[in-house]
Amino acid sequence: MPDFTPQTCATVAAVLRSRHSIRRFLPTPVSLEVVSELLELAARAPSGGNVQPWRVHALAGDARKALSAAILAEYEQGAREKRDFDFYPTQWSEPWLSRRRKMGFGLYGLLNIAKGDKERMRVQSGRNYLFFDAPVGLILTLDERLGHGMFLDCGVFVGNLLTAARAHGLDTCVQDSFADYPATIRRHLKLGENERIVTGIALGYADPDAPENRLVTEREPVAAFADFQGF
Ligand SMILES: Cc1cc2nc3c(=O)[nH]c(=O)nc-3n(C[C@H](O)[C@H](O)[C@H](O)COP(=O)(O)O)c2cc1C
Repeated sequence: MPDFTPQTCATVAAVLRSRHSIRRFLPTPVSLEVVSELLELAARAPSGGNVQPWRVHALAGDARKALSAAILAEYEQGAREKRDFDFYPTQWSEPWLSRRRKMGFGLYGLLNIAKGDKERMRVQSGRNYLFFDAPVGLILTLDERLGHGMFLDCGVFVGNLLTAARAHGLDTCVQDSFADYPATIRRHLKLGENERIVTGIALGYADPDAPENRLVTEREPVAAFADFQGF
């Protein structure tokens, strides 16, 4: 075991606090070696019965551009596909609705997109499918035979990946918007017949000058989501 010290703890806390979603990346490439190392660290995640249900399709260069083009062609036509899994509720309620709105207004405010400017919102939303210009795009899938509970395993995997990326000075954005185009992704990446789209993830280096990268999201205090008994 490594010799952990209070400094280790402070470093991990600083890495965790430094992460936020990045929505405009520099073209600076990320090597295959680095992406492989991040995935190896992510796969240290625990999973029920050590099943390790995640599968990752890592795309760079022309492969990344080709997937983006295939999805954007659908997006521009207004085509909609049925998601493999439900993600958001059809009916929103509080407190979640307000949190979601606050985040959206914050992002559009930084981009000077006025409330109701549907065209600019559509263009910004479409930038998801360019992985926000990140040099690496990841598509995470889960075999449908494993059941929805294994989303939790995938979530732990993604958490590890984001933290490991930050520790390497890299930035990320988790993008469930890719789950809106499962048929296109399945066809384009020639996925196995049971593979279902969980999420996309953009990976690269943040553009320090981009206003959208200045979005700071708040969190509820611990007392608002946890109760403590028997301490
Ligand atoms: C499962 C998941 C899906 C997400 N999907 C998107 C997305 O499609 N597009 C996007 O711009 N951000 C997406 N995000 C980023 C969230 O908006 C972001 O994590 C949240 O607002 C908190 O901000 P922070 O990541 O900067 O702390 C997603 C995050 C998660 C965890």
